Amino acid sequence: MSRVLVLNGPNLGRLGSREPDVYGAQDLSALRVRLVENAPEGTEIDLRQTDDEAELIHWLHEAVDAKTPVIMNPAAFTHYSYALRDASKMVTDAGIPLIEVHISNPHARESFRHNSVISAVATGVIAGFGFDSYVLALAAIGRGAGL
Ligand code: DQA
Repeated sequence: MSRVLVLNGPNLGRLGSREPDVYGAQDLSALRVRLVENAPEGTEIDLRQTDDEAELIHWLHEAVDAKTPVIMNPAAFTHYSYALRDASKMVTDAGIPLIEVHISNPHARESFRHNSVISAVATGVIAGFGFDSYVLALAAIGRGAGL
């Protein structure tokens, strides 16, 4: 059984009630169901969320050690966390796909969201499609993205 890590950064635990006009009305458990429904046979979806930068970094280290593909929504860390960028680079340097996803399209929002410090070290970026951003990332991993 193969596994995909689906990592979610700060405030994404509040999906469903947080700015539903931007992020929709569904929560992370609905996202997990969507991904499990769309996962290739025999692929385990390991979906996690944290508000803690250190915990997210440790999960990326775990991905390197276990060679687990990663779908990551770094949330606000996207825009300024060089520590998360360095940990993400370790994943892709190890030949493991890491796809950056966003529910909204950050480029259509406030200017501080226009820059991602993660994108340059990610395998690819998918943004602006709601929960479909994650589903599309899962499809890309299934097609061998970054391998
Ligand atoms: C987000 C976009 C970020 O700018 C924001 O800080 C988030 C969510 C998205 O999924 O659209 O928390 O990553």
